[in-house]
Amino acid sequence: MYDYPANIITALKDFPRVSLLSQKTPLEKLHNLTNFLSKDENNSTNFFIKRDDLTSLAMGGNKTRPLEFILGEALSKECDQIIITGAVQSNYCRSAAAASAKLGLGCHIQLENRVLDMDSTYHKNGNVLLYKLFGAKISYFPEGENENAADSSLLEISKYYKSIGKKPYIINLSPEHDPIGALGYVDGIKEIIIQCKNQNLKIDGIITASGTASTQAGILTGLALENLKIPVFGICVRRNKYDQKKRIKKVVGKLLKILHSNISIKDEDIHTDDRWLGKGYGIMSPEVLDAINLLAKTDGILTDPTYSGKSIAGLIELTRQNNFEPNSNILYLHTGGHPNIFAYESLLNTSS
Ligand SMILES: Cc1ncc(COP(=O)(O)O)c(C=O)c1O
Repeated sequence: MYDYPANIITALKDFPRVSLLSQKTPLEKLHNLTNFLSKDENNSTNFFIKRDDLTSLAMGGNKTRPLEFILGEALSKECDQIIITGAVQSNYCRSAAAASAKLGLGCHIQLENRVLDMDSTYHKNGNVLLYKLFGAKISYFPEGENENAADSSLLEISKYYKSIGKKPYIINLSPEHDPIGALGYVDGIKEIIIQCKNQNLKIDGIITASGTASTQAGILTGLALENLKIPVFGICVRRNKYDQKKRIKKVVGKLLKILHSNISIKDEDIHTDDRWLGKGYGIMSPEVLDAINLLAKTDGILTDPTYSGKSIAGLIELTRQNNFEPNSNILYLHTGGHPNIFAYESLLNTSS
């Protein structure tokens, strides 16, 4: 069984951090989905779920963990104004706005027009409604696929805040910057290892949505620090599997550097699968709609069209295609994203 993750604890101890998670998120068996999928011929995979959709900040999600380190750094530099960029329905921006409110920091959100041809609900409801409730200022950026340009625009916005006497902290998007946020899932995997140890559970694989690559890179790095060989299947939600793999490799390299670690992660240990990306970021396919409906109806758990709906669709199909060993234990990392369900009302509201 697993040892206490002492290497991770040592590796993270000097990074400034704020506390945004008031408790561990549940790790439990996904009984009904396990039973449902076991009705398929030859399948006997056991599914477990790590409920990071329930992190204790403003409707949860995976971005709470990175923000503990990012905002820790911001406060250690005495910054008082957060500036962040993301898609119109960004869970990252929502979590950053909520955390900023909690810590008494200003928050400026730049919204990129990444998903075209969406209705007015998409532009007003879901996360957009929440940014405003958390008191964030919003500006718009016309492009959705130019990360460097989006980051440069944040720099321009920061000049304005400096001119009014604020001390801004920029949360950049491109992987060229130090991946402080990826420390969140180095720490997240620590929590998972401890829970598995306490439950006497051996995990044979982890499935997660993979977008900025921060989550997958953090998990891979945490596992490597503990010398645990558990495959991590990244379901692409933003770009194709080749580009995503390159990105994860880059983030892992930079992460190991800031951790002063000389371990390495092999290319063949970075698994990315883009079969559920559909027509692109934020665009829902019929398979994803079916998967969202299935998990809601088997286990009463919500997933969303952009992130967790795609990763759960991946889990279901990988299982049906017999990708997992008989009797193996697969952990689904639920990364959240519920609020954007309400932005996709017209596409999700298909059953009577
Ligand atoms: C709900 C949700 N799940 C998964 C992801 C992807 O995680 P990462 O960006 O760390 O790859 C995101 C990213 O925004 C997200 O909001």
